[in-house]
Amino acid sequence: MDGSAGESRYDVGRVMVARQAIARRVAELGREISDAYAGRELTIAAVLTGSLIFLADLIRHMPNRMRICLITVSSYPGASVESAGSPRLGPMPDLPAGSDVLILDDILDSGQTLAALVARCRLTAASVRTCVLLKKKRKIPRPVQPDFVGFDIGEEFVVGYGLDFDNLYRNLPDIRELRPRGEDA
Ligand code: IMP
Ligand code: MG
Repeated sequence: MDGSAGESRYDVGRVMVARQAIARRVAELGREISDAYAGRELTIAAVLTGSLIFLADLIRHMPNRMRICLITVSSYPGASVESAGSPRLGPMPDLPAGSDVLILDDILDSGQTLAALVARCRLTAASVRTCVLLKKKRKIPRPVQPDFVGFDIGEEFVVGYGLDFDNLYRNLPDIRELRPRGEDA
């Protein structure tokens, strides 16, 4: 079956961002964000499941007082590398009223996911900022620009370090390109 475990039309290819570069940049990003929220408590709203590893690494570089909420969103259904259009937001956690919210996501593609989350968080938050580990190159303008970005990358579909294809490959320590099976690396 197309995309089923073991019979996928896709395979992992070359390393796009190596683990050492990720570790260095995440540490830097943690310091940047800490400075931006110096002396203030923040609430990190992390988008499941892709941002889990990024979240775990990032917050250990942030000494700020913080709360963490996890948000469920689905936009790429099953074994697909194309966005399904409008993201479906799951039930929102109770963000503390009047809090400074930082939305954390793994990757920015069309920007639909981030835009929907920003709109939702703005209903109760005092401030809303956004951080993505990866920002994809894109010709079409996005509805939102992130405040903090780890890496700018090309248009390739990538997996690893939390990012998935059909819920696979999240455990890869490097970020790698996903390529059609049988193509040379
Ligand atoms: P957007 O709403 O089009 O910006 O899509 C953002 C979401 O799509 C991310 O949170 C990811 O879950 C998923 N996504 C977009 N591009 C990739 C990719 O290259 N690899 C894995 N997931 C991706
Ligand atoms: Mg995601």
